[in-house]
Amino acid sequence: MKGIVLAGGLGTRLYPLTHVTNKHLLPVYDKPMIFYPIQTLVNAGIKDILIITSGPHVGHYLGVLKNGKELGVAHLEYAYQEKPDGGIADALSLARDFAKNDTMAVILGDNTTDADITQDVMSFTKGAKLFLKEVHDPTRYGVAEFDPQDNSQIIGIEEKPKNPKSNYAVTGLYLYDKTVFDRIKTIKPSERGQLEITDVNNEYIKSKELAWAELKGFWSDAGTFKSLFNANQFWALKEEGKI
Ligand code: G1P
Repeated sequence: MKGIVLAGGLGTRLYPLTHVTNKHLLPVYDKPMIFYPIQTLVNAGIKDILIITSGPHVGHYLGVLKNGKELGVAHLEYAYQEKPDGGIADALSLARDFAKNDTMAVILGDNTTDADITQDVMSFTKGAKLFLKEVHDPTRYGVAEFDPQDNSQIIGIEEKPKNPKSNYAVTGLYLYDKTVFDRIKTIKPSERGQLEITDVNNEYIKSKELAWAELKGFWSDAGTFKSLFNANQFWALKEEGKI
């Protein structure tokens, strides 16, 4: 399985910090943010990794990550998304040549977790698999709607809903087969003008090829001041052995 870290965008919710560098290079306790999602992939045995980035600070990545050896990456590639606000699915479309016919684990560069996804990676063969987490503020995320007759089935996902149908957020960690690229071609930009990963996931639901699991352990994005602070706090306590 290949690994893809989506680390573009302008990070406008973190201005003025993101005038300094790309969001995913900001510190989370003692490391640049992007080290965490890369480590999640490497710990699951995925060592062939593509970083997709964009925005005014893309040159900073090379100096920080180099060839990825210090993080246990065997092969590191970079791709550049021309439109920094094109959306997650637009960024992912750039991974087609890198992924070839392989399956892929996609992770957002601002998501940090201590969950171990090795078993999910090893057993994945086709379709898509999402990782959900119960949250108290679901309106900030993609949110799953479950079949009222059968709670194990997701029947739809809504992006940042005003009236969420559950408290289960779709985390920024996804397993996909190679059909993801053709599905991206079928979706249209959302109201915020982006190709949404939620629309891609809904395509997998339509063809009944979407599985999910609850992500165990800590998970947070770090795209707002509050979530960035939470992530810093968690990783500081964890590194100090306090949790
Ligand atoms: C993105 C996705 C959303 C997901 C979230 C997880 O939101 O669009 O579905 O729940 O990441 O971090 P964004 O951070 O781009 O607003």
